[in-house]
Amino acid sequence: MKIIRSPKILNALLTRRERKIKVGFVPTMGALHAGHLSLIERARKENDFLVVSIFVNPAQFGPREDLDKYPRPIKNDLALCRKAGVDIVFFPEPRLMYPEGFTTYVTVEKLSDLLCGASRPGHFRGVATVVSKFLNIVSPDTLYLGQKDAQQAIILKRMVSDLNFPVKVKVMPTVRSENGLAVSSRNAYLNSREIELAGVLWEALNRAGELIRGGNMDYQKIISEARKIIAARKGIAVDYFSIVNLDNLSRADNKNRRVLVALAVRINKTRLIDNLIVCRR
Ligand code: PAJ
Repeated sequence: MKIIRSPKILNALLTRRERKIKVGFVPTMGALHAGHLSLIERARKENDFLVVSIFVNPAQFGPREDLDKYPRPIKNDLALCRKAGVDIVFFPEPRLMYPEGFTTYVTVEKLSDLLCGASRPGHFRGVATVVSKFLNIVSPDTLYLGQKDAQQAIILKRMVSDLNFPVKVKVMPTVRSENGLAVSSRNAYLNSREIELAGVLWEALNRAGELIRGGNMDYQKIISEARKIIAARKGIAVDYFSIVNLDNLSRADNKNRRVLVALAVRINKTRLIDNLIVCRR
């Protein structure tokens, strides 16, 4: 396994490859867990060559967010990548990704202002920009993303399509722990009581899913019932609980058979997100 820190070197290595060598790419911010590993394993199976990036991208963190505090267990991450059969870990230095004078950003309009975008202005611009750079540096055949970050996956699919990036995007199911809590690097900020408490998010999503599948289309009522389940446990502040269309993230109406139930909450200072795709009968 090679560890490459320079975009130029990686770019030179991969752009001159033979066309028939299929490259899979999994972008991450490190602190690798079972969710990341599920993408890595899938990409390993489906490609000849596998690139994983580990980069805590400053451009997607707001001024009051956890950029400095974000976990960076690089030794452990590299060991996990080696074990999973990764060919190249791209672990760039921030100054090489954003050199002095950097001023070009990618904005996926509208979609970036909704849901998480409403309380994290600039976040998805940072994500779209860094993933564009990665796609140009790595030129993968397939990009692997997780359903856990549903809005991110929808935005990046839109970007790939709008800007004609020659890459296929695959979105993999959310990996959860025993109580249903979606595995996340930010779960490291939670104590054991908070982890137990956070299990109620999966419960609330499933209740909403059950009602929608059962034919209930009064989405406002479903949302307030799901919110009540969360409110019954003290210590969770809901940022949003929404039922939206999968393509444009606007409020779901009765025409949509498949909807996205999505939420963001705060437990103490930790922001957690989760979602469920539901198919109406
Ligand atoms: P990060 O949060 O490290 O996540 C990297 C990838 O792993 C994302 O595609 C995310 O959706 C996926 N993932 C995280 N938790 C998961 C889980 N429990 N089950 C399945 N997949 C999961 O998302 C980012 O990094 C960054 O925004 C990035 C795309 C790397 C750009 O900086």
